[in-house]
Amino acid sequence: MCGIVGYVGKKEVVPILIDGLRRLEYRGYDSAGIALLDKGNLTVAKSKGKVELLDNSVNRSHYSGTVGIGHTRWATHGEPSVTNAHPHTDCSKSIAIVHNGIIENYLELKEKLIKEGHKFRSKTDSEVIAHLIEKYYKGNLEKAVLSSIKKLKGSYAIAVITKDEPHKVVAVKCGSPLIVGIGKEENFVASDVPAILTHTRKVIYLHDYDVVVLNEKKVQIKNIKGKNVNRRVEKITWDINAAEKGGYSHFMLKEIEEQPDVILNIIKRRIDDKRRIFFDELKLNKNDFKSIKKITIIACGTAWHAGLIGKYLIEKHARIPVEVDLSSEYRYRKPPSIKNELVIAVSQSGETADTLAALRLARHNKLKVITVCNVIGSSMVRESDSVIYTHAGPEIGVASTKAYTAQISIFYLLAVHLAFLRGVIGRNTEHKLVKEFEELPKLITRILNNKKDIESCAEKYKQASSFLYLGRNINYPTALEGALKLKEISYIHAEGCSAGEMKHGPIALVDEKLPTVCIAPKSVTYEKMLSNIQELKARCGIVVSVATERDNIIKKHSDYVIHIPKVNEDLSCILATIPLQLLAYYMAVAKGRDVDRPRNLAKSVTVE
Ligand code: AGP
Repeated sequence: MCGIVGYVGKKEVVPILIDGLRRLEYRGYDSAGIALLDKGNLTVAKSKGKVELLDNSVNRSHYSGTVGIGHTRWATHGEPSVTNAHPHTDCSKSIAIVHNGIIENYLELKEKLIKEGHKFRSKTDSEVIAHLIEKYYKGNLEKAVLSSIKKLKGSYAIAVITKDEPHKVVAVKCGSPLIVGIGKEENFVASDVPAILTHTRKVIYLHDYDVVVLNEKKVQIKNIKGKNVNRRVEKITWDINAAEKGGYSHFMLKEIEEQPDVILNIIKRRIDDKRRIFFDELKLNKNDFKSIKKITIIACGTAWHAGLIGKYLIEKHARIPVEVDLSSEYRYRKPPSIKNELVIAVSQSGETADTLAALRLARHNKLKVITVCNVIGSSMVRESDSVIYTHAGPEIGVASTKAYTAQISIFYLLAVHLAFLRGVIGRNTEHKLVKEFEELPKLITRILNNKKDIESCAEKYKQASSFLYLGRNINYPTALEGALKLKEISYIHAEGCSAGEMKHGPIALVDEKLPTVCIAPKSVTYEKMLSNIQELKARCGIVVSVATERDNIIKKHSDYVIHIPKVNEDLSCILATIPLQLLAYYMAVAKGRDVDRPRNLAKSVTVE
């Protein structure tokens, strides 16, 4: 949930750290700080709030150094404040550490260290790491780090410097992401690729318990026993522009607008010129797919909504029973497994703590796990039997948009592919369903061209204090996702419901002040949605409908209609999502919210 970065080389370190932190800010923005080695001194600068404030408070001409570490925080232990901001130092202010994760046994360690005479300054769990390293430090930083991590319980990615060894950064990971960037006479560590991509494309994804020692010439990785280990150097193929705003006012808007290209990319990677679907990277063979008896999908938040849609698609096309579980529930409810059950974990980041734990549980129960993921080399990817990448490009906005429609697209193609492999459909049906999918980029562009209309809708209803979202069948998860998008970035209360459940409770909320967003494209449940809309109007509710173009009936019963192009019902959930993302976006902008960095949230939830 926090972002860390470290540098050792020949260049001035402050601009490199600040720039890296800005690019990691999506991970947390409660406070920011840096520590650098400056002519034999360890200098620390911190500030509460966003990296911009740290940048404003640091007079760059006062600092000169070529080795340093930085941190942007999402608070877990201790409120956001300068004292609780990282880097944390030991008693003698010789050692500085930055940490992403949670040290579960910190209270116990802290008590012991206090008894031994250590003086603590913050309320964080992280500060124990600085004191532990101080305790074990005997002139070799990596040895002290190795001894310290043996005492830690929990998850961590840590970077450390000491003024006694002024030419190195030591870093270690367990459960939280950490990469090494290899440059020319300079090396980096960071929580994520964008932090270092302007400097190098050569990256190593560290494994748990890897301890890395960086100086400007060398990167050395050791395991927990102190033995050297080799890790593959990967080349990042995407451009830093993909992780920049490129003229847009917010990452979220840019990422919404990228969706036609994301789907074009999926088409290019997953469909051949005869309109046959392929998933080459899956290590399962045709017989493995034929023998699947049940699929369990595990995910959190928006990815869970994609999983719910996956259920509709896989059950409808491939006729395999699918169960969808929130990872946080799955991991504690002792799910029974059956022979030939397949688990699909869905995650944009591949680092979400609950999904990672659920995935581990599934593998522990000897189940095969496929991860649908956007981040190359992430923890879930490394721990799964197989991976299907969404290839949506870096998603920086905290509210997930393009990763979601990419996940649904993967489920659509996977469902059709499974249906074919299992003999439920033939090549002709596959061809037809693929052809319909190929229309999506064009249809999404049509919706995007009409965004003024959605902006007006947001303007009209921005004063409402609560919203209801209703949908049926495959658009029930769309209603859940629409409500989640609105609440997370505009802070307006919103509830998503199955329209069929409306009469079982939510209808009590309806009055002349409550807007209900009804997702009602032409489908098998269209008439039912129309009845729901009439029931809302009969109770003086405000109805905003998302309906198929040229639907004149729905117009008569709605206060506002947002149109989407005609499309097969399975794909309507992708088209209907686009206006809901835009509605949330414009509502948040109209209310002056920090769209890309909404309060209390972080992009990747690496703590439970
Ligand atoms: C999406 O808008 C949310 N910020 C959040 O629900 C997110 O989808 C969830 O935390 C899961 O993240 P993941 O896809 O990286 O696992």
